[in-house]
Amino acid sequence: MSEEKKYIMAIDQGTTSSRAVIYDKSGNTIASSQKEFEQIFPKSGWVEHNANDIWISVQSVIAGAFIQGNINPKSIAGIGITNQRETTVIWDKETGKPIYNAIVWQSRQSAPIIDSLREKGHEEMIRQKTGLVLDPYFSASKIRWILDRVDGAQERAENGELLFGTIETWLVWKLTGGERHITDYSNASRTMLLNLESLEWDEEILDLLDIPKVMLPELVSNSENYGETKSYHFFGHEVPITGLAGDQQAALFGQLATEKGMVKSTYGTGSFIVMNAGQELQFSKNNLLTTVGYVIGDQVTYALEGSVFIAGSAIQWVRDGLDMIQDAAESEDLANKSENEDEVYIVPAFTGLGAPYWDSNARGSIFGLTRGTNRADFVKATLQSIAYQVRDVTDTMVRDTGVEIPLLKVDGGAAMNDYLMQFQSDITGIEIERAANLETTALGAAYLAGLAVGFWKDIDEIKTMQKDGKAYQPQMNESRKEMLYRGWKQAVKATQVYAE
Ligand code: G3P
Repeated sequence: MSEEKKYIMAIDQGTTSSRAVIYDKSGNTIASSQKEFEQIFPKSGWVEHNANDIWISVQSVIAGAFIQGNINPKSIAGIGITNQRETTVIWDKETGKPIYNAIVWQSRQSAPIIDSLREKGHEEMIRQKTGLVLDPYFSASKIRWILDRVDGAQERAENGELLFGTIETWLVWKLTGGERHITDYSNASRTMLLNLESLEWDEEILDLLDIPKVMLPELVSNSENYGETKSYHFFGHEVPITGLAGDQQAALFGQLATEKGMVKSTYGTGSFIVMNAGQELQFSKNNLLTTVGYVIGDQVTYALEGSVFIAGSAIQWVRDGLDMIQDAAESEDLANKSENEDEVYIVPAFTGLGAPYWDSNARGSIFGLTRGTNRADFVKATLQSIAYQVRDVTDTMVRDTGVEIPLLKVDGGAAMNDYLMQFQSDITGIEIERAANLETTALGAAYLAGLAVGFWKDIDEIKTMQKDGKAYQPQMNESRKEMLYRGWKQAVKATQVYAE
């Protein structure tokens, strides 16, 4: 490797913003840039993005990071891309123009397609092949929805005129000037079209949904040289793209949860609890998702995942929707000030409930208000709702695997909140270890990219660079912990009954 290749760039394309981060050889952040983009809500329960807005935001943060760090793009050894998963883009192969907005993972508009698959009795077959529960969360029904909705799209797709991709596919296609149409296994495993056993697109599911295989990207590993960016996107330099991963799998890797049984929870828009499930494929018996963690060389590491749809966005709701706090940090002070006995429960089922309930019809609810309930109690209950949902998943993981979880590695913006982390440890009874660098998603993408080009020799070398974060030990007594959790379960149940 040439001396001048001093950095790795990670591009983290998330649900509400895009970020580019430049790391040096010791894993230090040298520069970063972030940009939000528009969220489009055409109807209740629908969430869309303009794929070109995403692309523009990515170009802008790439430039922003170079400018901020005064860094020459020729010193970048490789680029790692990580992304919001499942979000679906279909575009014209010739013009590069998307034929419809990107349908975001949270969006429920393709629910009728899922209902019809369920009515026709395909649920079990799909679970057995893809490891996923039947839900509009995943890309497959979103593809079908766009092909139905846009005039002539089915025919054009069959003629090979249209391409499908999740966000990393779209970005690689744009960055390489249309030369590479690829998806990595971790993202592919979220489409509901990947057969987890053969690691190929599943013909039976494609037929069932009438999705032409010709529009699907080529499957690639998570760490290899996929090709170079066009020089006009990188100030006259061609830079190799060498790492790709869905954001939650990238966070798993960034947390160095590379051994079977290690678990991480990332507190972003939603909260995603992912366990390294090792090299053998095993399906969940309790409505968790089996998914690809990462593929390096020819070794596959599977993962078990519980996806909670609303976490950090519940804090945003208290801030922007209810005007109860000025900024997210204030939620911690208020929660500490609350003196009530935790009898208020908020179930933030704004877009239904994810794991382990998978109820797309549920909507948010509040229980236990009294005349004395105040703003601090309300904010505290919102933070607690995040922790309760994570416990729903960790309990399910223990039931599924028969193994206790000794440690939960946490990261993401809301993990900064000390009140939330202590309550998380209390209510799960699990020790929490907060990463020193909370942006573990971008870091994981950088590690995958750096390993592919020998920037870092191996995982052991990366381990030596990791800094200690902060640990939280469970402090709540057992009977109080279980009493509070029973209250949460009752609140969820009542929410579901109400939605019926
Ligand atoms: O599955 C959805 C997930 O990848 C979204 O992550 O961080 O953009 O909320 P985030």
